[in-house]
Amino acid sequence: MKRIAVVTSGGDAPGMNAALNSIYQMGTDLGIEVMGVRRGYEGLVEGDMVALQHRELRENMNEGGTILGSARFELFKDEEAQLRAVRNLRDADVEGLLVIGGDGSQRGSFAIHRHGFPVIGIASTVDNDLYGTDISIGVDTALNTIIESLDRIGTTAESHRRAFLVEVMGRKYGYLALMSGIASGAEVIITPEFEMEPPEVVRELHLAHERGNRYAIAVVTDGAKNNVRKIEEYIREHLDEFHFELRVTILGHVQRGGPPTVFDRYLATRLGSSAVQALQDGKKGVLAGWKCYEVEYIPLEDVVSKRKELSVSLWRLGQMLSK
Ligand code: ADP
Ligand code: F6P
Repeated sequence: MKRIAVVTSGGDAPGMNAALNSIYQMGTDLGIEVMGVRRGYEGLVEGDMVALQHRELRENMNEGGTILGSARFELFKDEEAQLRAVRNLRDADVEGLLVIGGDGSQRGSFAIHRHGFPVIGIASTVDNDLYGTDISIGVDTALNTIIESLDRIGTTAESHRRAFLVEVMGRKYGYLALMSGIASGAEVIITPEFEMEPPEVVRELHLAHERGNRYAIAVVTDGAKNNVRKIEEYIREHLDEFHFELRVTILGHVQRGGPPTVFDRYLATRLGSSAVQALQDGKKGVLAGWKCYEVEYIPLEDVVSKRKELSVSLWRLGQMLSK
């Protein structure tokens, strides 16, 4: 292979730049030129590509975000856009594509694969909802940011004897809420997989009060049916007496920003470099993921057709610890 391209797509994740750097370094080592596609699939369809530059990568490899930019580009679901992307790659003499991104982005990868172009995905999303990989680039950083935020909320909540509803990211996968809830000792954990109706949330918070807790925290996934707004509305409209003062915090995009942790830099470096080698070795139509502390290649067909389940035993542990 003489030339490959890489695109960062969907929600950005801390560690994407470290992955780009390792892809470039591995490419250079193997004598492969690496082109960077700007602005996700939108840039791919427009043929917006530049050769990656050593200096820019070195300067940004430890920063969050992605120097290539990213995009949500719904048009890529259309076959016509996908075929144009493949044509652009071939016209630029690109022989293989790496897609750094989450679940939606890997659906795009699979489409490109089915059009006969060699592609390898690289697992990257703070949600950790990609099937087949234990963890993805960005998850560890997001979790650490959430935990630090919950610790900070805890001290002010205790001073004022308040209950906080804290919204975290995750969409339809409750991993961030569950892990941060367990690690911070939250009183309530709400995920789309294990929903809780508002009266049940109130009961748990009141029980915490009766146990003598000076404050309480409910961690809620942004994609839960009973999200923080619904629970807040219920408490404000239906309850004459709520044992704590109530506050709501939406952590938002701070969870996706900032420099990657040691683990995310390591994971990104391993997945990026391995994916280049794999392309060179003729692998295609797979996702470079992480299983039992090693790189593993999962067929994209499985990634897009199977659902990652949230661990029931972990959820039970969370329930037990929150009492
Ligand atoms: P993430 O990759 O972080 O999950 P999205 O779900 O927003 O983020 O997906 C990123 C992009 O991937 C979308 O904006 C779109 O361009 C592309 N994409 C998503 N779903 C599909 C699909 N079914 N087929 C082709 N491309 C898709
Ligand atoms: O998929 C990553 C994610 O951060 C989700 O956790 C969150 O629900 C969503 O993206 C936010 O999307 P946007 O960045 O488009 O506001």
